[in-house]
Amino acid sequence: MPERNRFTGKMEPSIRDYDLSEALDLVDRRFGIDTLMRDLTAPRDRLVAAYYKQSRKGYEHYHRDASMHYALCEGEDYDHDGLYAQARAVIALARRTGAKRILEIGCGQAFNARHVAQELPGVEVMGLDLMQDHADRANARAAEAGLSNFHAAQGSFTAFPQDAGQFDIIFAVETLCYADRDEIDSIAGHLFDHLVPGGHFMMHDGIRKADWDDYPRDLQTAHVLNELCMAVTNDFFSEGEWEAALVRAGFVDITTEDLSQQTLGTVRRIARMGVLYTTRWKYRLMMRFVPKYLARNSVSGLLSIFALFGSAKEPDVRKGIVKYLLVTARKPE
Ligand SMILES: C[S@@+](CC[C@H](N)C(=O)[O-])C[C@H]1O[C@@H](n2cnc3c(N)ncnc32)[C@H](O)[C@@H]1O
Repeated sequence: MPERNRFTGKMEPSIRDYDLSEALDLVDRRFGIDTLMRDLTAPRDRLVAAYYKQSRKGYEHYHRDASMHYALCEGEDYDHDGLYAQARAVIALARRTGAKRILEIGCGQAFNARHVAQELPGVEVMGLDLMQDHADRANARAAEAGLSNFHAAQGSFTAFPQDAGQFDIIFAVETLCYADRDEIDSIAGHLFDHLVPGGHFMMHDGIRKADWDDYPRDLQTAHVLNELCMAVTNDFFSEGEWEAALVRAGFVDITTEDLSQQTLGTVRRIARMGVLYTTRWKYRLMMRFVPKYLARNSVSGLLSIFALFGSAKEPDVRKGIVKYLLVTARKPE
C-alpha cells in the first residue's frame, strides 16, 4: 500500500510492501547481487575514498550539515533532532567530567564534533578523518560558523598523528566499522595512549549479533550487502569484540548500551528513499546518471531495516541480525 510522505504530503510506494526476499530480488534486478559482492575484495581505503567522494552530495542531501550517521529517535518516526543524540552523549559526559580536550575519530565533515565545539566553547575539539576532503570541509564549515575551538585534520584511526597529544574524551560515531579485525588491538592501544589518565572513550556503531550464524542466510546476505554498499568490506564487528579489545588495552568500567530501537525512524526514512530510487521510473532514470557508489546507497536504504529489525512490515529488534550499540570505557587514573 502506498504511504503519504510526512514531509511532502505525496503518496509514495512503501517498504512495508516488501518482505526480505522481495527486497533482495529488487536489489538483484537493479544492481546484481553478484556484482555488488565483488567489492568484498576491493582495497579498503581506496573503496572508502571512492564511496565518500561519490556519496558526498547524498549525505549533504540527507542533512544540509552533512551528517553521515543514524538519527536516534524516541518514537517510530525520523526526526532531524535525533542526529544530535550521539553528540549530546559526548557533551553530557564532558560536562560531568570537566573535559578540556575532545577528539572525534572518523569525523567526516564533523557534524558531531562541531556540535560539541559549539555547545562547549571552553573546550578544544579536534576531528580526524581518513579523507583530506572531509577535514577541509569540516574546517570550512567551522570557520563559517565562527567556531574557533574546533579544527580537523587528515589522519587514520589506525595511526594517530604523532603531535595530536592526549585528550579527555575520544569518541567515534559509525567509523570503527571500517577497521580490519586484525587492527582492533592496535586501535584500542592508540585510544588508550591518546587519553589522559581517567579519560573516556565512547563509540556508537553497528555491531553484528553474537548469534549471527544462527540467522537465515537471506538475512545474512542482506546485511553483507548493506555493509558493502557503505564501503565496509570486512564485516561489522561482533558483539563483545570491542569490549574485549578495550579490556586488553587496559581500559576499565566498560559499558554497552543497545540503542537499536532508536534507529527505527532512520531506517524507515532511508528505506523510503531506497524504494523510491529503485522503483519509480523518474528516479530510476536519474540513477543512470548518478555515480555508482552514490546509487548503491539505495541498497543500504532498502536493506538496513531488515538488518536491524528483521522485517519491514513488523519491525522487531529481536528479529534483526545487527544491533546499534553505544560502548564506553575509561582509562584508569
Ligand atoms: C559513516 S561516516 C561517519 C562520519 C561522522 N562520524 C558522522 O557521524 O557524521 C564514516 C567516516 O569514517 C571515515 N573513515 C573510514 N576509515 C577511516 C580511518 N581508517 N580513519 C579515519 N577515518 C576513517 C570516513 O572517511 C567517513 O568520514
